[in-house]
Amino acid sequence: MIYFGCDYYPEQWSQWLDEGEERWESDARLMVEAGLNTVRLAEFAWGQLEPAKDHFDFGWLDRAVAVLGRHGLQVVMCTPTPAPPPWLTAAHPEILQVDARGYRKGPGTRREACANQPVYRERSRIVVEKIAERYANNPHVIGWQTDNEFGCGDTARCYCDECTNGFRHWLQARHGDLEMLNQNWGTAFWGELYTEWTQIPLPTPSAAERNPSHLLDFNRFSSDTWTAYHNDQIETLRRLCPNHFVTHNLMFFFADINHYDLSRKLDFVSWDNYDFHGATPGLVAAAHDHTWGVLERNFWVMEQQAGPINWSVYNPLPGPNFVRLKTYQGIGHGADGIVYFRWRQALGGSEQYHSGLLDYAGRKTMGYAEAKQIGEELQLLAPKLEGTRPVADVAILLDYDSRWALQLQPHNRLLRMDPPNDFMLKNPALRMDREDEPDEKYMTGRAWIAWPFLAPYLALWEANIPAAIVSPDSDLSQYKVVCAPFLKVIRPEVADNMRRFVEGGGTLIAGPRAGFKDEHNRLFNEPQPGRISDLFGSTVRYFDSLAPERENELRWTRAITRMGPQSPIGLWAEILEPEEGTQIIATYTEDWYAGSAAITYKEHEGGGKAVYVGCMGGPMLYHTLFDWLLPEHKIFPLMPSLPGVEICARVAEDGRRVLFLLNHTSKTQHLSLLTPVEDVLSGDRFDRSIVLQPGEVRVIEEKTKNRE
Ligand code: GAL
Ligand code: ZN
Repeated sequence: MIYFGCDYYPEQWSQWLDEGEERWESDARLMVEAGLNTVRLAEFAWGQLEPAKDHFDFGWLDRAVAVLGRHGLQVVMCTPTPAPPPWLTAAHPEILQVDARGYRKGPGTRREACANQPVYRERSRIVVEKIAERYANNPHVIGWQTDNEFGCGDTARCYCDECTNGFRHWLQARHGDLEMLNQNWGTAFWGELYTEWTQIPLPTPSAAERNPSHLLDFNRFSSDTWTAYHNDQIETLRRLCPNHFVTHNLMFFFADINHYDLSRKLDFVSWDNYDFHGATPGLVAAAHDHTWGVLERNFWVMEQQAGPINWSVYNPLPGPNFVRLKTYQGIGHGADGIVYFRWRQALGGSEQYHSGLLDYAGRKTMGYAEAKQIGEELQLLAPKLEGTRPVADVAILLDYDSRWALQLQPHNRLLRMDPPNDFMLKNPALRMDREDEPDEKYMTGRAWIAWPFLAPYLALWEANIPAAIVSPDSDLSQYKVVCAPFLKVIRPEVADNMRRFVEGGGTLIAGPRAGFKDEHNRLFNEPQPGRISDLFGSTVRYFDSLAPERENELRWTRAITRMGPQSPIGLWAEILEPEEGTQIIATYTEDWYAGSAAITYKEHEGGGKAVYVGCMGGPMLYHTLFDWLLPEHKIFPLMPSLPGVEICARVAEDGRRVLFLLNHTSKTQHLSLLTPVEDVLSGDRFDRSIVLQPGEVRVIEEKTKNRE
């Protein structure tokens, strides 16, 4: 089934409205009328559930669950730990996080507690146990969301005394003794030789740039802190609620916590989908695919924006079709649950300008109407999606060590592995996508410049070729082509994984900046890409970090390009030295290194191929490579591409496919067809071409597999 629901805060409405709890009844009725079947509850309700220390009040929540249950709605319950109540922070101000400059964060909002503080750990443990015991056998509760968006609001890293201590212990466990730590961190540089564990600082603001080994370890420690805190909760829930699923809601490509570690013990992951300023459909598609790739499993969207949000730069009112388009984009990429945030716009608190399916006055919004339409459509569609999932032959590796290593030393301020976040977009100096054409917001636009890591993904997305974004530790044998852009840190196991993949006949496309760093974030005593040079039969001799005005071009040595013999590159150029037997695929055209190798290619016995891309190009560069390399693996687009129209698919075990056609543009689009089709959602039939109105979605089922 498709779980279709909303995020509901009964405890808020009983305070805000004269009707009090009676309102819950009409809310439940309206939810069912919209076709919803699921409700998420209580992630911020610690204050109501434990109004005073060890004094628990589950009465109201029992009543809310009972009302929803009576209407046939099922409940995803949350552990309420992101919002420690005022009695707790007042009695124990030490649990409040300290920022890098030594300021203690103020209490009274959410996410302000430090996961290394014993009192917060202990009180969290108690409240999680209580709520788990309470609802373990409640017939209306189907599963759990742990906490809420770990790390949200820059809270993954804390600099309090417990964290200082904790970091030193963590280092001890990782490096053994100080001699090893000094060795691994290369502390001979600037004579930073540590002789006592207590001398090791947290990476607070400092006079000169800090040691990248120190910084990378602090990022790992902070990520491990939340993973450990999370695992405590999961363990409690498993013990007390063995029949329930457990999930957590991740954020859009959030960088500060390693998602693979954080999610390892969950049944499935979820994420929260908000169209912040700059979130193009290609980026959102990537975020869905990344979420799928965390556990390589279908996922939920636990918060789907239902109208304007309150926290981005401009917060526009999304027009008609927005909610439906976003909902089906999620489902098409493998979401088995869509839950709207929030049921009704809040009358109090800091998010009053955030929309809901109902507005502040309780009126139904456009989002409600579209949800209702989807609710009806799902009656037909959901059974067809049973047992289906997105299937990709191409995988892109996203690695947290590499991501952090690149953040810590980008060597070019525009080379980031992170998408443009709201902070960057608010800061004009960091904005790269200003000259958007009106319709470009619907397409990849220049998103690849803002986030070079995504260039290969966006090329595939534009071509309607499914891609998975997965860990470099994933079982790569399930993919035919693997891209590893900016895989800067290559652990020995990852090198082995890549080697196995190529030996098994796969095509590996890596670079730029591959394999430059070891697991301690030091350079190797051998030419880049170090541990995997043999795979590519080529090494990096020099690299050139390019300011935006310094462009260069590639000259392809094979007739493989769809855009004429040359393609532009920017930001980064590695000058490659191929060995004998390695072919040069493209050379640079400009600068003193014009004519030297930019992309090389090596064929292995057994059919494996390894392409090293030494430069940063946009989707065009990757279109060229994919046009050449994918057909050799019989990888073809789902349908011919039309700018701004996205096609994604869910595939059943027997090969039956359900295709989602999503018009992200504000124009009517016509897609030519080879055979007549019927739109599952509307029943409309099309012979030669299928018509999509602006923002429209159509779904086609292909009963027989006819692809090879
Ligand atoms: C999410 C968060 C929600 C709400 C929402 C507003 O990040 O989980 O609680 O704050 O943003 O868009
Ligand atoms: Zn702390």
